[in-house]
Amino acid sequence: EKGGFEHFMLKEIYEQERSIFDCMRGRLNAEAGTLTLGGIHHYQEHLINANRIIIVACGTSWHAGLVAEYMFEEFARIPVEVEYASEFRYRNPVINKGDVVIAISQSGETADTLAAMELAKSQGAIVLGVCNVVGSSIARLSHEGVYTHAGPEIGVASTKAFTAQLTVLAMIALKTAWHRKTLSEARFLEYLCELERIPAKVAKCFELNDKITVISELFKDARNFLYLGRGYNFPVALEGALKLKEISYIHAEGYPAAEMKHGPIALIDEEMPVVFIATRDSSYDKVVSNIQEVKARGGRVIVVVTKGDALIPKMADFVVEVPKTCDAFMPMVSVVPLQLLSYHIAVMRGCNVDQPRNLAKSVTVE
Ligand code: M6R
Repeated sequence: EKGGFEHFMLKEIYEQERSIFDCMRGRLNAEAGTLTLGGIHHYQEHLINANRIIIVACGTSWHAGLVAEYMFEEFARIPVEVEYASEFRYRNPVINKGDVVIAISQSGETADTLAAMELAKSQGAIVLGVCNVVGSSIARLSHEGVYTHAGPEIGVASTKAFTAQLTVLAMIALKTAWHRKTLSEARFLEYLCELERIPAKVAKCFELNDKITVISELFKDARNFLYLGRGYNFPVALEGALKLKEISYIHAEGYPAAEMKHGPIALIDEEMPVVFIATRDSSYDKVVSNIQEVKARGGRVIVVVTKGDALIPKMADFVVEVPKTCDAFMPMVSVVPLQLLSYHIAVMRGCNVDQPRNLAKSVTVE
């Protein structure tokens, strides 16, 4: 049942090449220049004309929502707010005519996300779902939606569902941008081609497994970890930290790299490893300065870089190279080494990676 893997989590990490491909299958055809999302056909107009998009989700799905915020703003120029479902539902949120709510959930059974959707619906919002489990409560409660088709995810730590959510959200954002004419036809086609290349780029990351195993051995006894990234890689930093804390029980924090100087920098010493996600994007130079600041304070750094980076290896303790892609799709690639890092550290610490203590796969309580 684990297909030769020791744990479901590892199996699911390695399934991502396939699951991202499956998620695009029958929807995206770069050669023909087509992107069809039948699941949201009836409410497509609402999305195209939305004044604002409100994303509600929890945990890893909330991190996918943060990436989607950047995508919708960059591609489709629609303002986006990303809400923890649990906060949204207990406030008295302002929902205006013309707002579209997108609920993201792997299980489709998360109680807080369901309640947030009910609240939004009761105030007249159109609610679209991005779910993995077909026929789940969230899928049924949505007006329409797009399934992630990642296949069953057994490990409590979400991995392949996350990258499939990013794939679906990228497709929705691109389709919306195409209708709104906020992306030129040429750029749109370039993005479709690049999205089709993501499964192969994810597969490339599996070649890092041995190196990440060695790094894990060196850092497995750390008591704290900091994860830093900027732009599209900021949610990846949050996701890397969540993966580590939930399965290895090491305290980890994710921060936008530029926020370091507003507080977390006080924590830096030899005992506080810092994982940077510093791929070649528009914030690269700034993140390089942050790495230097950590090194100057005796911190040990592990950095996810774009293949061929010549600068960061000179300052970092360890680098892991991922293939180049555009800024918006980098999270699907750059998260993979972080999933592997948390997995190996947790295994080395003797933790039950598939069923960590105190956690359930679907959180059906409030
Ligand atoms: O099924 P959902 O996507 O709605 O679940 C949301 C969170 O409970 C979930 O992502 C949780 O944070 C995972 N254990 C993260 O790995």
